[in-house]
Amino acid sequence: MQNPFGALDALPRVRLGIAPTPLERMRNLENASGGDTPGLYVKRDDCTGLAFGGNKVRQLEFYLGEAAALGCDTVLITGAVQSNFVRLAAAAAAVLGMKCHIQLEERVAREDPLYRNSGNVLLDRLLGATLHSYPEGEDEDGADRRLGEIAENLKNEGRTPYIVPLAPGHPPLGALGYIVAAREIMAQTADMDIRFDEIIVASGSGNTHAGLLFGLRALGARCRVTGACVRRGAELQTLRIKAHCRQIARLLDMENPVADKDIILDDEFLAPGYGTLNAGVANAIRLSAQKEGLILDPVYTGRSMAAVLERARKLEAEQNMLLIHTGGTPAVFAYGDDLL
Ligand SMILES: Cc1ncc(COP(=O)(O)O)c(C=O)c1O
Repeated sequence: MQNPFGALDALPRVRLGIAPTPLERMRNLENASGGDTPGLYVKRDDCTGLAFGGNKVRQLEFYLGEAAALGCDTVLITGAVQSNFVRLAAAAAAVLGMKCHIQLEERVAREDPLYRNSGNVLLDRLLGATLHSYPEGEDEDGADRRLGEIAENLKNEGRTPYIVPLAPGHPPLGALGYIVAAREIMAQTADMDIRFDEIIVASGSGNTHAGLLFGLRALGARCRVTGACVRRGAELQTLRIKAHCRQIARLLDMENPVADKDIILDDEFLAPGYGTLNAGVANAIRLSAQKEGLILDPVYTGRSMAAVLERARKLEAEQNMLLIHTGGTPAVFAYGDDLL
């Protein structure tokens, strides 16, 4: 396969996950969706291995690669209370013999004990992370600044901290994990002799979406790559993905292969907002569990699957659609009361 990403393989990276992840057909869901449904496939990035897996394992390979190369011994990261990213950062830090400080932001107005203590929060504690809280949920710069203050305190205690940044404007190292995934998908589709017409992926920070789109376009794939909005509406998210793609090109010192028209966002299943279920998402989660034994989460992958089911209706029977299952399964336990 061609390798247009010369600089990528020279960047620091630690191996944390299992790859390639399986790419499977969802025949029962196809049957449940009616006669002229396109082929429905899922890329099982919930099976990346580390501590319940998920997309963030691929991203952390580059962040923690940089941390290790810089000789850091403590990882700092911020996210929502039920963040999968912070759980996986704690697991990755544990594997690498580093400490982890997690800042949990009040992004979702929930006080119930399941949400606050179960799922990812339980795992954060089990993984030995130190937890901090941040009172805002929509202040990315402020959350990063507070992490900086915690890092300063740690330096005074003799530690060497590494911050995984939240706000845009930093080199999007996490997106590189999805360039690697794009290569993997190209190899799998060649092996399986299949062509995807549309790929759907949850679009939050945008690193997964931007990396995947950038990687696929650079490798010559023309399929539609649709981001299912989980955090902000399509208009704002489009600007974010565009900026990420420019930054990836700068980081890898190559042309940006992503045209404006390639950036597609679907916010149909975003309401009522981040981390809150709606009927379409709840239905997608139940249907996937009961037809495919596939466990999706209420914040990210439930939204992506809702978009798959809706958008599949616009494709022809001989076309194919791929869902990237980005993980998030521990959150199911935190949202148990809403799901049942
Ligand atoms: C399970 C899951 N899927 C998708 C996403 C979205 O990925 P990104 O932040 O790279 O857009 C996240 C982000 O936290 C996630 O935890």
